[in-house]
Amino acid sequence: MRLPALVVSAAMLAAVTAASADPIADRKEIMKDRSAEMKVLAPIAQGKAPFDAATVLAELEKMNANAMETDVDALWPAGSDKGDTKSSPKIWEDMAGFKAAMDKFKADAAAAAAAKPQDVQSFQQVFGAVASNCGACHQKYRL
Ligand code: HEC
Repeated sequence: MRLPALVVSAAMLAAVTAASADPIADRKEIMKDRSAEMKVLAPIAQGKAPFDAATVLAELEKMNANAMETDVDALWPAGSDKGDTKSSPKIWEDMAGFKAAMDKFKADAAAAAAAKPQDVQSFQQVFGAVASNCGACHQKYRL
């Protein structure tokens, strides 16, 4: 019976390709991209830069794509608490809570992009929800 062995190795291969080769570097890269979008969006929300619907939508769509890319299983695998990382050990102690926090960020980012805000007031509302996730998660799960 050769078939079961083949099935097992195919499953193993799938597991290997799903994992990130350097999860610590990859998750930091994703976070840095998030901050780049924040640097454009925050001054607009604060009234320090002019509101432009096309610019805002482009950044919100980037933020949404970034959020959707954030595969917690691939980027925070067991063992990746060691190394050049500020991820708190709490992540692995409370993986369900960490995933829930990331899912909330994803939902808020998707809602903000879908809202396609046309004026600064409606933008501030959806943006406030997205931005509140950054500090909330960092406080709990970042060293
Ligand atoms: C659900 C949790 C979570 C959310 C939401 C989140 N972050 Fe993070 N962030 C982390 C963790 C954990 C780290 C530490 C990563 C590491 O060093 O392994 C981090 C690290 C960072 C870093 C440092 C990256 C580096 O180069 O070391 C920046 C910048 C950052 N986040 C920005 C943001 C911004 C901006 C947002 C919101 C738009 C955000 N994050 C939302 C969990 C989160």
